[in-house]
Amino acid sequence: MALMQIEHGSTRYQQMVQLREEILRRPLGLSFTPEQLEAEKDDILIGAFDEGKILGCCILTEVAPDTVKLRQMAVSNKLQHMGIGYTIMQFAENLARDKGYRKITMNARNTALGFYKKLGYKVVGDEFIEVTVPHHRMEKNLR
Ligand SMILES: CC(C)(COP(=O)(O)OP(=O)(O)OC[C@H]1O[C@@H](n2cnc3c(N)ncnc32)[C@H](O)[C@@H]1OP(=O)(O)O)[C@@H](O)C(=O)NCCC(=O)NCCS
Repeated sequence: MALMQIEHGSTRYQQMVQLREEILRRPLGLSFTPEQLEAEKDDILIGAFDEGKILGCCILTEVAPDTVKLRQMAVSNKLQHMGIGYTIMQFAENLARDKGYRKITMNARNTALGFYKKLGYKVVGDEFIEVTVPHHRMEKNLR
């Protein structure tokens, strides 16, 4: 498995968007608009690939000079619970640290809270609804 940064608009980016549609949007009856995709052109786009196929992905968006927001964390359906998400998160955290960020924040789906807790993320504040499903804000300081 190769972990890498993805260039916006590239073939790998198209694979990433497809995976995100499949895992994070279609099950909710939603899809991405061209404006939403255009808005992420300066984000840090991360993908895990094997023999040209995308296995998983996530995005880091700068929200403050020392903070990035983790978004769009997804692992291909048949490959979940095999350690790929954990490996992507390690790569994303190291990349964020290397780029000088001190903190990662996110809006985590309630169904994924246990995954992030294992990685040291803490819930901050009350439950809220986003893309029709319950979420909690989570944070972690990078050391
Ligand atoms: C949540 C998700 C990204 C996790 O990736 P993954 O590759 O399946 O997770 P891993 O196999 O790396 O799991 C790492 C650890 O977290 C645990 N874990 C994984 N998913 C979990 C979940 N949803 N809830 C609780 N614990 C979870 C695993 O059991 C494993 O624990 P262990 O180290 O004690 O064995 C993936 O399952 C996914 O894409 N889910 C659907 C989309 C989604 O919910 N994305 C997050 C939106 S905020």
